[in-house]
Amino acid sequence: MNSITILGGRDKEGRAEELDFTCKRGEIVCIVGPTGAGKSRFLEDIECFAQGDTPTGRRVLVDGAAPPEETRFESEKKLVSCLSQNMNFVMDLSVREFLAMHAEARGIQAGGVEDDSFIRRIAAAANALTGEAFELDTPVTRLSGGQSRALMIADTAMLSPSPVVLIDELENAGVDREAALNLLVSGEKIIIISTHDPAIALLGGRRLCIRGGAVRGVFTTGEAERANAKIIAALNGRLLELRRLLREGKTLDFNMEDFFSEH
Ligand SMILES: Nc1ncnc2c1ncn2[C@@H]1O[C@H](COP(=O)(O)OP(=O)(O)OP(=O)(O)O)[C@@H](O)[C@H]1O
Ligand SMILES: [Mg+2]
Repeated sequence: MNSITILGGRDKEGRAEELDFTCKRGEIVCIVGPTGAGKSRFLEDIECFAQGDTPTGRRVLVDGAAPPEETRFESEKKLVSCLSQNMNFVMDLSVREFLAMHAEARGIQAGGVEDDSFIRRIAAAANALTGEAFELDTPVTRLSGGQSRALMIADTAMLSPSPVVLIDELENAGVDREAALNLLVSGEKIIIISTHDPAIALLGGRRLCIRGGAVRGVFTTGEAERANAKIIAALNGRLLELRRLLREGKTLDFNMEDFFSEH
């Protein structure tokens, strides 16, 4: 599989949506739009490879053709993995057992007791995305929200064969989002991510703007936007610094204007 194509359906009022959008492996596409506009619905259409049979009437093609039924409904042939907001681990496994189980389910020889270097690499990649590292022996149910999110991102990037990754709002909950997207895109996957955050929206090569249930615009991130993305990232870095200070029990009663103009 090299590309997916989304063909327009209709907006919430039933008017036709003008859309013929193809994205390829290695691309990051962002979805922006007001609350309730239909961003999550757009991702759901891709997740189920809609064929005119969802509320939007959209159709999703794989390499230019309707996907065979088995890719739509059989989980082991799934082309899509989803990183959702809620990670609820049902089994009390250690991180090591959890990753070993995933590797085995996906037919990857992750080594046994004698060689857990692959599992170590995944855990290290996850830990590189967050503030406080977890151990291989940490039970997954004890991971924090940010840590479990990071583990799922590393797991998806390094263990999942699915070429398409859908992310519904990668919020700033202690995960280094730019590093997370770089990790995912390094696996030559198609990443489609809905966001309310300008720092994330400009990380994509292209973005779709949704309103009233339909895509109203397709934008390519231009030169000026890329330059501005760096400034936004720097501002974001300052905000994260404020968060770090609060977390460390510091007060924020210093001169904010100076603080923001320092960098
Ligand atoms: N084209 C459409 N036709 C009919 N219903 C639609 C269409 N697009 C979206 N909807 C419906 O509108 C509702 C809101 O959409 P959705 O949850 O996707 O919004 P959102 O942009 O993700 O909002 P938020 O930013 O709050 O997450 C959902 O019930 C969804 O199924
Ligand atoms: Mg949503």
